[in-house]
Amino acid sequence: ESIDKGPYRHFMLKEIYEQPKMIERSLLQRLGKTKVLAEALGPHAAPLLASVSSVQIVACGTSYHAGMIAKYWIEGIAGVPCRVEVASEFRYRKFKVQENTLLVTISQSGETADTLAALRLAKTLGYSASLTICNVAQSSLVRESDLFVMTEAGPEIGVASTKAFTTQLVALLLFTVALGRHHDIDEATEANIVKALHGLPRLLSETLDLDADIRAMSKAFAEKHHALFLGRGVQWPVAMEGALKLKEISYIHAESYPAGELKHGPLALVDSDMPVIAVAPNDELLEKLKSNLQEVQARGGQLFVFADKAAGFKESKGLDIIELPHVDDIIAPIIYTIPLQLLSYHVAILKGTDVDQPRNLAKSVTVE
Ligand code: G6P
Repeated sequence: ESIDKGPYRHFMLKEIYEQPKMIERSLLQRLGKTKVLAEALGPHAAPLLASVSSVQIVACGTSYHAGMIAKYWIEGIAGVPCRVEVASEFRYRKFKVQENTLLVTISQSGETADTLAALRLAKTLGYSASLTICNVAQSSLVRESDLFVMTEAGPEIGVASTKAFTTQLVALLLFTVALGRHHDIDEATEANIVKALHGLPRLLSETLDLDADIRAMSKAFAEKHHALFLGRGVQWPVAMEGALKLKEISYIHAESYPAGELKHGPLALVDSDMPVIAVAPNDELLEKLKSNLQEVQARGGQLFVFADKAAGFKESKGLDIIELPHVDDIIAPIIYTIPLQLLSYHVAILKGTDVDQPRNLAKSVTVE
């Protein structure tokens, strides 16, 4: 596979733009018309998943955020209890292992020292089996896990993870369906998820078309020192990933919060120097989110909202809106990640940082 930048100025931008293609590739031979195919998780998966009664996810960095999103799916759709923890914490604390718990690691490289140590530790602690969601076939995590789902993102060179994250989410959705069949997912639910996945590459391309608007918006951030990212429900980890991208490559301090928690602290920070970014698909939490955002506006905060075009936001002083296509709730976390990637990229360009090799960071952290 070629690893040049092609027509793009940075690997990160190339990798952002590759997402529709890589996601299409990661769905190939895994999706039927209305079903996730058995091939998606390999021949040994079904008997193993049949006995799973809870899931423990362990990962680091961006991969941890994918795990946070998957928790909403695994509990909310598959109906299976799920816990998520960063590997560097998981490996050093005492915990109780419930019977029939599947240990799931998520990793672009498959070599992150803490994640690998967590898997090795889990094997000694009575987890029933292990599965890894990984982008590198020859990696240690793939070799040492009972099951694996390859993310098929192709080589990711930019230190800030983009296409690895969205393909992880796709793999985690396939896993949710395969697991949920033994629990709460019926044929109609599966058919809906499969339909949404079939439409995903096209919707991603439409979302990438917003690039020029997002570049224009990025000017408002270049001189700022802080930014606050908000989301609710499954969009909270999307906001977390947006904040991580911005701090990794533009060196602007960024925090993320579940919007309902604003009043318990971060509202004290809001003023005209603290841009607030929100992700607002048209989901069941939209009205709650809107009232949280009104609190920001009432305190003179500058709001930048990525919203479903049917969400009913109107631009006004202190409120910038970028409208996204209407998407099914199930794929909304994947779609709403895209504008946040583009925003951090353009802010970093304005700041003149080293986008592909941010200071002090490594692509793969193989020592503790
Ligand atoms: C480093 C990278 C991140 C990545 C994290 C976990 O911090 O800079 O982009 O998310 O490691 O890496 P992994 O390969 O396990 O996904």
